[in-house]
This record gives sequence, C-alpha cells and structure tokens, in this order.
Amino acid sequence: MAPDAPESKPAVGVTGGADGSWSNRFEQGLHPAIERFNASIGFDLELLPQDLDGSIAHARMLGSCGVITAEEAEQLVAGLETIRAEAAAGAFNPGLEAEDVHFAVERRLIDLLGSLGKKLHTGRSRNDQVGTDLRLWLRQKIDHIDGALVRYERALLALAEAHAQTLIPGYTHLQRAQPICLAHHLLAYVEMAERDRQRLGDLRRRVNISPLGAAALAGTPVPIDRRHTAEALGFEAIYANSLDAVSDRDFTVEFSAAASLVMVHLSRLSEEVILWASEEFGFVRLSDRCATGSSLMPQKKNPDVPELVRGKAGRVFGHLQGLLVMIKGLPLAYNKDFQEDKEALFDVVRTTLDCLEAMAILLEEGISFRPERLEAAVAADFSNATDVADYLAAKGVPFREAYQLVGGLVKRCLAEGVLLRELPLERWQELHPAFAADIFEAIHPRQVVAARRSEGGTGFEQVAKQLRRAAARLEP
Ligand code: ARG
Repeated sequence: MAPDAPESKPAVGVTGGADGSWSNRFEQGLHPAIERFNASIGFDLELLPQDLDGSIAHARMLGSCGVITAEEAEQLVAGLETIRAEAAAGAFNPGLEAEDVHFAVERRLIDLLGSLGKKLHTGRSRNDQVGTDLRLWLRQKIDHIDGALVRYERALLALAEAHAQTLIPGYTHLQRAQPICLAHHLLAYVEMAERDRQRLGDLRRRVNISPLGAAALAGTPVPIDRRHTAEALGFEAIYANSLDAVSDRDFTVEFSAAASLVMVHLSRLSEEVILWASEEFGFVRLSDRCATGSSLMPQKKNPDVPELVRGKAGRVFGHLQGLLVMIKGLPLAYNKDFQEDKEALFDVVRTTLDCLEAMAILLEEGISFRPERLEAAVAADFSNATDVADYLAAKGVPFREAYQLVGGLVKRCLAEGVLLRELPLERWQELHPAFAADIFEAIHPRQVVAARRSEGGTGFEQVAKQLRRAAARLEP
C-alpha cells in the first residue's frame, strides 16, 4: 500500500454530498469505509419487488389524491415497471453509492424520468417505506413457509399411512416405556406442524398492517390517503399511530419466534432420525440420495441432513435473540439499528424454508423403517409391564398394588434373564390367582398397542382416526 502523501485529500465515498442522495446540507461525501458500513444495498435488494410495488401504490395514490396529475402517476408507474424489467434482465445493479434499495430505485427513476422522478417521494419517507417493504416481503414468505409446512406434513402423513400397523418402542427418558404404533409417533410431528401453521397464520394478520403514510415519524401535511395504498397493497389495516408505524418491529420477533418453534420441531425429529439410523437403534436406513459418506471411513453412512437441520436451529434462535436485543433499547421512532433486522429476518426465512424442504425430502425418499428391527425391539423388553398391572386392575386389584406385584416380577425376570411372555402360567398364578391364560394375549405388543383405545391414544382405531383427520386437513 502506498503511504499517503501528506498533502493528499482524504478519500471520500460516492454516497451523500450535494450530488448524492442527501440534501445540500452535505458538502462532502462519506468516508469510503463508513459508506460501506452504512449501506444496506449489499443485502436489501432482496426487497426490490416489494419496493417497486409499494412505490407504484404510492404513486397511484398521489395521482388519485390530486397531489400529482393522473398522467404523472402513470409515468411514474411506467418508470417503476421499467426498473422491474431491467432487474429481471439483470441490468439493475446499483452500487454502494445507492446506499439502499429505496435510494437505488429513486435514483434510477430520476435517470429515466428526469425531474418527474423526483416527485415520487412526496409525502413519504424511507422509514415508512422500508417498513412497508419488509412487511410485504415477510407476508409472502409466510405463505411460502406455510406451503413448505404442508409438504412436510404430507410427507409425514404418507409415512404414517404406510406404517399404520407397524410398532415401535415408545420412550420416556429415552428408556423403553410402552410399545406404540409408528404412525402415532409420526403423527405427533404432524400436530406440531399444524400448530406452527396456526401460529404463522395468526401473526400474519399483524404483519399485514400498513405503515405507509406515517412518513418519517409524524405523518405528513401532504393530503395523502393511507387507506388507498393499504388497499392496493393488500394490507388488512393501517397502523393507527405514525410513531408506532415506523418503529414497530414486533412482527420480526413474532415471526422469528414462530420460525424458532418450527426449527425446534424439525430439530427434535432430526435427533430421532439420527438415533434411529445409528447401529445401536437400527430402526431406519438412510437412502443414498439423502445420506453422505466419510472421507476416511469407507463403511460410514452419515445422517448429515438431520444433523444440519438440528445445527441450523441454533442460528434461527440466535436471530430471534438478536432482534429482541436490537429493539429493546430504542427510543421512538425510527433508528438506524432497524437496518439490522433485514439480514436476520432473511436468514431466518431462508434457513426455515431450506430445513423444511430438506426434511420433507428426507421423509419422502430418504429414510425407510426396518420392520424386522422394530418388531424385534418391541418383543424383547419389559415395555408390556404396565399392561400386566392394567390386567390385574381390570380384575379388581387396586392399581398400586398390582403395580408393586409386577415390579417384583420384573425384578425376578431380569435376574433370571427371561421375558414376561416366557413365564409359564403357573408362575403368573403364583403371583396372583386372578391371572388366566389370556394374560399371554394381553401382553403381546400388538395387543398392548391395540388396547390403548382412549381418545388420542396409540390404539389402532384411534390412530386411524388421526390419519383420517390429518388427511382431510391436508387435502389440496
Ligand atoms: N436502509 C434503511 C433500513 O434498512 C432504510 C431506512 C433508512 N431511513 C433513514 N432515515 N435512514 O432501515
């Protein structure tokens, strides 16, 4: 690097100054490092479609309110559509001098239309503009995530339908507890995803409120019609308070919290798939299309997809935390800190969508259950012990007493190295005279599952009901 000659002028950037975006109050351009530091154009071009939509609605509203002529409004709209076409053709590539997407569009409009382009910003500020863009963007992404959740749920449902008769050990504390129907297990994740959809649908209503027309913070003397732009942009309502309108980022937190729960659910399923795919469990096989190999150990097949989903949950939670902390100390109204909301939100959306897609593919074609391993697992443990106690309770023995009797029996079986089903009838009757030959049927895993007929339980009829309900809900 050449040393600066003492007489050389300080380097300046291309933003700002009298010729740049800002008013004549500025005489000098930004320091280049500050310019880079300040700009959001490096990431907020993502909002270009929404910025154009918002500006088109604003221009039309200015026309209809007589702030500009109808003809001027249509010229502005045509100019904005030209920018859209340029962007589609890859010919709209604003640099740092634009600072952000909002300035980039306005500058290009002025290039295209001359001084008419300078009328677009009448009665508007970048503060209400950016809030509008972000809400329009997120509204659409919520719909995409909803679609991705539906695909994921359908994949779960298809697997569940295929395994309506398959048994799997059910766990508590990761200890074998009671055998359950595999479909029941998978349907639990469908329920979680349904709650995720509900949460997103609910918060979408709060995203879908228009801040446009709040201007910088206080409203505007320009005779605008906020309801006109709100309606044109498909917002359900307008913010009632202009300060709140430009400084509310609650929706970014609400959304990230909902996305975090989506990720919690995906991560929990991931963890189970990882366990199931291990040699120790051996409940599933991963297909070649969805598993990876080791660079060193030729025998390995790794569950990278669920591991990545589990890992990526952390960054979504991190963004949620980041947004909360970013907002919590801000005085009203707009503060530049808000610029930080974008990369966080973009990453939350991208990560959640990517993970939902990857998990859907994993379920669709990446894992197959191994019924022989599952059968062996449910047959070879004491997870039917509760049913022995239930058997006695049904014959009038108080449950707690039955529970103690069976506990002692399990202890003896463990010492002898036998399973409950291997005990001869005499042993049962020694324990309690209420036992009869039907005890063997009662402790058979399939019967143990079938017997759980309580609503929402794992009994086959209850599961069939759940399957029907889920299928009806997910009908296109
Ligand atoms: N790039 C800014 C953001 O992302 C746009 C709004 C800037 N407004 C302002 N008065 N500096 O939040």
